[in-house]
Amino acid sequence: MSVETNKQPADGTHSGPAPLIRLEQVTKRFGDNTVLDHLDFSVDAGRHVTLIGPSGSGKTTILRLLMTLAKPDEGTITVDGEQLFPASEKQIREVRKKIGMVFQQFNLFPNMSVLRNVTEAPVTVLGLSKDEAEARARELLDLVGLADKCDAKPSQLSGGQQQRVAIARALAMRPQVLLLDEVTSALDPELVAGVLDVLRDIARSTDITMLCVTHEMNFARDISDQVLMFDSGRVIESGPPEKIFGDADHERTREFLSAVL
Ligand SMILES: Nc1ncnc2c1ncn2[C@@H]1O[C@H](COP(=O)(O)OP(=O)(O)OP(=O)(O)O)[C@@H](O)[C@H]1O
Ligand SMILES: [Mg+2]
Repeated sequence: MSVETNKQPADGTHSGPAPLIRLEQVTKRFGDNTVLDHLDFSVDAGRHVTLIGPSGSGKTTILRLLMTLAKPDEGTITVDGEQLFPASEKQIREVRKKIGMVFQQFNLFPNMSVLRNVTEAPVTVLGLSKDEAEARARELLDLVGLADKCDAKPSQLSGGQQQRVAIARALAMRPQVLLLDEVTSALDPELVAGVLDVLRDIARSTDITMLCVTHEMNFARDISDQVLMFDSGRVIESGPPEKIFGDADHERTREFLSAVL
């Protein structure tokens, strides 16, 4: 299995004990609504961390901040030692290359073939040759079980297949981190398992760091090293899945889990 990442060589500035993702005292408000309230958490390289918590609690907002699609009002966010806010356009571009994101809505390019969806950014952003990008794309499409769909258009695929293309597309950039935001929640129930199996396989067989938001608690239990229970703008509890799902300390966590399990 050869999903590789664009890791920086250990050059003294990017190595060391610093976590790959770190949020410190991050506050994000929309008007009077304080969505993230002095939030602290970090994710070490190679770990699989799942964020759970009620709807509207700010989970997507966290991922959007990491993608630099939104700005915090206070606090600092670093990815691989680089601070995101403030950062120059160039720094932002560099950080974005380290992060792949898959959303609930897959947002494939509708007029491009499946193969081209996966090769486009590696060619235009990373400067790969067409041949290199295609070889990489074919390998990844094989990984997600779609080797025979290279020439199809997204509209000819099921939702689950489109989501698997979106996963291959994110991996084609060889990100260090994969952010996953409820990637199965727009899918018909019978298509969910295939997508989760692909993600389990990636979690098991690669060293990519994963930060997942999911309502699929069995999936969270399977793939996570750590589960963060998030409510009212803060992480209220975190721990290995067996602790959070089996013996949570907080009443709020137990209440949430009993409602969703
Ligand atoms: N662009 C925006 N403008 C104003 N309010 C926003 C914006 N984006 C998010 N919010 C508000 O921030 C809060 C957190 O939203 P967010 O999408 O992060 O929640 P979530 O935890 O991902 O919820 P869900 O589980 O339903 O996806 C919500 O109250 C939402 O209405
Ligand atoms: Mg969300």
